[in-house]
Amino acid sequence: MSEDQIAVHDPHAKPATYVEPEAADRFENPGLPPHRPRRADVDDDAAKRAERQVTTLFGLSILGTLGFIVAYFLVDPELRASVLVIGYVNLYHVILGLTLAMSLLGIGLGAVHWAKTIMPDTEVVEERHLQASDEEARNEAAGVLSQGYRSAQLHRRPMLLLTAGGALGLFALPLALQVAGGLGPLPGDALEHTVWRKGMRLMIDPSGTPITPEMVSQGSVIHVLPEGFVGESSHGEDGPSALEIMEAKANSSVLLVRLNPEQIKSQKQRDWGVDGIVAYSKICTHVGCPVALYERQTHHLLCPCHQSTFDMTDDCKVIFGPAKRPLPQLPITVEDGYLVAVDDFAEPIGPSYWERG
Ligand code: FES
Repeated sequence: MSEDQIAVHDPHAKPATYVEPEAADRFENPGLPPHRPRRADVDDDAAKRAERQVTTLFGLSILGTLGFIVAYFLVDPELRASVLVIGYVNLYHVILGLTLAMSLLGIGLGAVHWAKTIMPDTEVVEERHLQASDEEARNEAAGVLSQGYRSAQLHRRPMLLLTAGGALGLFALPLALQVAGGLGPLPGDALEHTVWRKGMRLMIDPSGTPITPEMVSQGSVIHVLPEGFVGESSHGEDGPSALEIMEAKANSSVLLVRLNPEQIKSQKQRDWGVDGIVAYSKICTHVGCPVALYERQTHHLLCPCHQSTFDMTDDCKVIFGPAKRPLPQLPITVEDGYLVAVDDFAEPIGPSYWERG
């Protein structure tokens, strides 16, 4: 079309991608690429070698599972060892983890190797057909299955079947042990207590400095952890483990604030503090976020997760938000010039669902 010609739209014109039906019929099915046999298909020695490798992998899985069961009953759960950089690690958990990994890995690698080297390797084309099969088709399917079983030569490889069955069967045992109690000891009353004890000093988190009353000025808030539980790593063989320190940080963190004693509304709150210095659990009683915002003008503590707001001058009662009970107060006193706990919290810290029922 020249530049001075005007293009006219033809409503009956066919789109450029249109393909005549006959042309579609003429499209040829490219079919499957030629089948390339694997070494194990054409070489008996290679097949035997692959079979040995698969049985070895399943055998390793069996050893791993048996090792797990033996370790589960015979190794001391408190067995620990010092490892460079990491600190003290619980060897019991390491052994259980390694044996379970060996058990799983043996089954997985064995199954993959079996499928890639020994299982029948013929491409199959399944034509679309009606879902329902007639009697004849079902018989035919059964014939194909039994033919597959024969061509896999499972009847000639009893060791392979035995080890695969053994690996899979035994692997159920660790799971049963886990369900039967291996998920750890029952918590007992652990959820109702923290690590705070009588005489335990309040330490600044994260510096680990013990706190004197003079260090707590009005309007400031100090983040506090119990003595012995500050820092990241284990405190030696007799001290708390790294895990216990993490647990303490999760449930024993405290916020320390100095209020004007005249502003404090409750006598109990005054008695459990020191000259207006009060300590409250940092764990929100809604769903356990750390309560971290202190409004120095209003003496409100705010939880950043769902905006629960607690009034520090009134026993940390909830004045806004979804939390249902006040933050628990840690009773404190002064010993040798330092702030120490009088006891653990008098009630469970954190989410209120402990109190349900
Ligand atoms: S966790 Fe604090 S308000 Fe929800």
